[in-house]
Amino acid sequence: MNSFYITTAIDYVNGSPHLGHAYEKVLTDVIARYRRMMGDRVHFLTGVDEHGQKVQQSARKRGVSPQQFADEVSAEFRALLPKLNISNDDFIRTTEPRHKRVVGEILQRLFDQGQIYLAEYKGFYSTRQEQFLQEKDRNPDGTWPEIFGEVTEITERNYFFKLKQYQDWLIGHLTAHPHFIFPSFRQKQVLEFLKEPLNDLCISRPRERLEWGIPLPFAPDYVTYVWFDALLNYYSAVADRPGVWPANWHVIGKDILVPPHAVYWPIMLHAAGLPLPGGIIAHGWWLQSGAKMSKSTGNALNPLDLVTEFGADAFRYFLIREMNVGQDSEFTREQFLVRYNSELANNLGNLVNRTLNMTNRFAAGVLPAAEVTEDPERELHALWAATRDEVLPLWAGFQFHAALERTFQFVTATNAYIEKRAPWKLGKSAEAKDQALLRTSLATMAEALRLANALLRAVMPTAHDRINAVIGHQPGADWQAELHWGDRLTGNKVAEALVLFPRPTPPAKA
Ligand code: MSP
Repeated sequence: MNSFYITTAIDYVNGSPHLGHAYEKVLTDVIARYRRMMGDRVHFLTGVDEHGQKVQQSARKRGVSPQQFADEVSAEFRALLPKLNISNDDFIRTTEPRHKRVVGEILQRLFDQGQIYLAEYKGFYSTRQEQFLQEKDRNPDGTWPEIFGEVTEITERNYFFKLKQYQDWLIGHLTAHPHFIFPSFRQKQVLEFLKEPLNDLCISRPRERLEWGIPLPFAPDYVTYVWFDALLNYYSAVADRPGVWPANWHVIGKDILVPPHAVYWPIMLHAAGLPLPGGIIAHGWWLQSGAKMSKSTGNALNPLDLVTEFGADAFRYFLIREMNVGQDSEFTREQFLVRYNSELANNLGNLVNRTLNMTNRFAAGVLPAAEVTEDPERELHALWAATRDEVLPLWAGFQFHAALERTFQFVTATNAYIEKRAPWKLGKSAEAKDQALLRTSLATMAEALRLANALLRAVMPTAHDRINAVIGHQPGADWQAELHWGDRLTGNKVAEALVLFPRPTPPAKA
């Protein structure tokens, strides 16, 4: 059995969860479920990033201790996971002892090896971004970009990690592993970034300026820079679990690829003598009116309300169907409703309803065997084989939006098959040929539904189980074996009805 370890970014607890956080969890969950379906032993980690200036500031504003503040907000992030049907195996908080211990050990190791040194530093500092800035960060007119907030010049003695000396090594690693970063155009951006010389990384903050962090083991009047602390969660969570590290994939958003994940992290691991992860998946942003969605933009509509209104499956389906992993997507409720109504309620919902209704009406609720193979059946069988053969590589290549599109084309074709065979007409005829065709059409639509449903399992796990339940199907342990057209359903008793995706109640008229 293959071991497969996948992680999400750990979310800052200085604000409540929003759509961007939810999307990343759902995307990672879909990959984790898919790998489990393919037979891997999966370990799926997510969690929260609790240290740093922003948390300290938010806690102060609220008049509570940073720990109390982090406890409250972390609980909110944690509560989101079951709501979204996320199948994570672990949840890490960077204030946990297991994490602090590993951060301390790695810092000490790097310090003992001479890879961390103390130096005086004078420079421009952005409190909002918690980083020193460089001349190249300035706007062309000499001012500092808005994202840095207030910028002040300060002098500080700090600890630095020797990042620079690993620049050529990192370029070599990326060149030798051209698929380290998905999508590949992002890998090119990283290599572009690495054409400029790197600076060593300031990994400490004096306690007088920032208290809320992990103390440096060799200099307790300093705390660890929040990124150096946070990145290590991926390792600290599994340090005691033999055989899990290295991660196969880190799933993150494009904003935290360069430099933290694509530069600091591989170099930190390499310097500490730890194996590197298989790669990094950098997804795009959910936008509203062209701007990145976040809590601070105060978007009136909270997309997470859709989960309560329409259920986790529909929400997950929309996110995965709409976004091409790596690109940005505009979020609108209208677009959600279009997909909900036309793809879920009409297309898939109809196929389920027709299968149940007609089997009850024409076969006393028991699925018959297919007896005839004519052109309509042959075409559907061939389309299934083509769909499956196309969809599996799309899944493997993270092209989930396209995989769902193909899967739903097959659902559409199955509904068209039903129109063509018109079982309601065949049911009126007493002729033996028509009765055989009727039984064939019932068996065919049910089998097509079972197969399409198998391809929806990772995205809509609850709907998947409910559909199988109403057609009396218990999938075997081998998911890939489920993907062959056959007669598994023959003789199954179907349920009366199933409303999978209820029509939204129209807004009350004024
Ligand atoms: N704490 C750091 C990550 C540390 S990982 C060792 C952080 N936290 S965050 O809360 O700001 O963001 C968490 C994740 O959510 C990031 O991967 C980020 O890209 C993602 N998203 C936040 N807003 C987003 C959108 N509007 N759209 C999609 N994802 C975005 O960064």
